[in-house]
Amino acid sequence: MEQILSVTYSNDESLKSISKIFLKGEPFELDPTYSKGVFYKNFPKPKYKSDLIPQDKDILKMDCRELNFESSSIKSIIFDPPFLFRNQKSNNNDKMCVRFSYFKNFKELLNMYESSLKEFYRVLEKNGILAFKCQDMTGGSGSRPFFNTHSKIIEMAEEKGFVLKDIQILVTKRKIIRKAKEQGCFRKVHSYFLIFKKQKKHNYKDSGFNDSENTVFTENNNQQESNGGRSLTSNNTSSPADTSYFNEETKK
Ligand SMILES: C[S@@+](CC[C@H](N)C(=O)[O-])C[C@H]1O[C@@H](n2cnc3c(N)ncnc32)[C@H](O)[C@@H]1O
Repeated sequence: MEQILSVTYSNDESLKSISKIFLKGEPFELDPTYSKGVFYKNFPKPKYKSDLIPQDKDILKMDCRELNFESSSIKSIIFDPPFLFRNQKSNNNDKMCVRFSYFKNFKELLNMYESSLKEFYRVLEKNGILAFKCQDMTGGSGSRPFFNTHSKIIEMAEEKGFVLKDIQILVTKRKIIRKAKEQGCFRKVHSYFLIFKKQKKHNYKDSGFNDSENTVFTENNNQQESNGGRSLTSNNTSSPADTSYFNEETKK
């Protein structure tokens, strides 16, 4: 059987594999940031295509934060919002910004993502799937802040009630790389597909993980996993000896 990997090299490959594993081979039902539909060169188009600024007659004009669908009526959504934010005027005409649009700052980006997640949670049916394409960013000046966008999205989605099911990393083959005198951060050549499901939260206690006690067990309690000579597994309770290693590690 062909193995589907957690790293891909094209949108095509990602969409096909997400569909195979999470949508029983079906296309997505809704793409609310359809743009020109580059995603669908070799992949079936979604039933509903919409965008804030439709690029064609057959694309519905809709803000993804306020979708014109009944609650719990959509099986699956693929979301590919703008991921850049720029506040320097000179940068705002660069190719990526013109092609995909951008936000003024990180807060504006997160606000848009958060409102969209809330709306997706509303329109998705029980067990509905959301594939969220996103990218992290490093600030180009000063202290070069790292904007850990994908983690923020996971946090926000879980707050809304989504369960993270998987992550796929898409490595870009072609990348616009500006010449820089020095390099102060990694050039981002990857983006993420975060796969969320509208389902009941997994009870990690069932698999031996009890976050409140800061204790980690393996899924199979009989299978010992050692680390630095100390066991991270337990057969049942969290004795102080079992947790001390982990507590020390997490303080660092
Ligand atoms: C990165 S592009 C999507 C590219 C698309 N996946 C493709 O295959 O061509 C982002 C799109 O999100 C749209 N967009 C931005 N804000 C939006 C909003 N609030 N509601 C709906 N669409 C929005 C933009 O108009 C743009 O077309």
